[in-house]
Amino acid sequence: MEKRNKIYEGKAKIIYSTDDPEYVIQYFKDDATAFNGAKKGSVTDKGIFNNKISTKIFEFLAGEGIPTHFVKNLSDREMLVKKVEIIQLETVVRNKAAGSFSRNYGVKEGELLNATILEFCYKRDDLNDPLINDTHIKVLNLASVDELQKIKEYTYKVNELMSKFFKNLNLELVDFKLEYGRFHGDILLADEISPDTCRLWELGTGEKLDKDRFRHDLGNIEDAYQEVLNRVLS
Ligand code: TMP
Repeated sequence: MEKRNKIYEGKAKIIYSTDDPEYVIQYFKDDATAFNGAKKGSVTDKGIFNNKISTKIFEFLAGEGIPTHFVKNLSDREMLVKKVEIIQLETVVRNKAAGSFSRNYGVKEGELLNATILEFCYKRDDLNDPLINDTHIKVLNLASVDELQKIKEYTYKVNELMSKFFKNLNLELVDFKLEYGRFHGDILLADEISPDTCRLWELGTGEKLDKDRFRHDLGNIEDAYQEVLNRVLS
């Protein structure tokens, strides 16, 4: 597969076309942003950690029957993926209170929730990715009823699978964000799954091994990502 032109650059990744119109290369950068780009920085080798961690998780989920855009790993920072049309939704699952949920609803971080929360945000940087519900999704024409149904089904299944996967690595999956894309009439799990997009707390101590170390200047960011990679590869 031949790498061609840059077709999109986001905050943490670059997408390159290839000689096959069905596939693109997803390149992971070290750039880090938080609070919708208000905080900017860089984390040494984050792109390498996230590429490798995402690779492992996509392989695991595919093996459990979740359709994903992942095709194969190409290099330290690159994976080959199917060229999906990204659905403009961020799908967030919360198992415990943290982050914007704690801020928006006044619930103490770490509080156990009596139900799993599913949230959708409209992927629009210029609007600050506002929270939306099913009827917003319908009115804004972001996904069909069938697509939304599939997204919910996959997302709950991914939560079950990943919660167990990380628990085996002595990590608690507190919350995470998924993105989906359309590919020949199917819905595929897309983007990345990494400590940038998941909150992962050490079981027992509650130590944060994710992007909150960057968001809140907690230090030892690289060590945290390296630790997650080591466990994912163990
Ligand atoms: P939040 O508490 O800031 O809304 O984040 C919920 C989860 O979603 C958390 O695991 C981090 C992840 N996330 C992203 O991957 N990208 C984003 O832009 C945001 C806001 C959150």
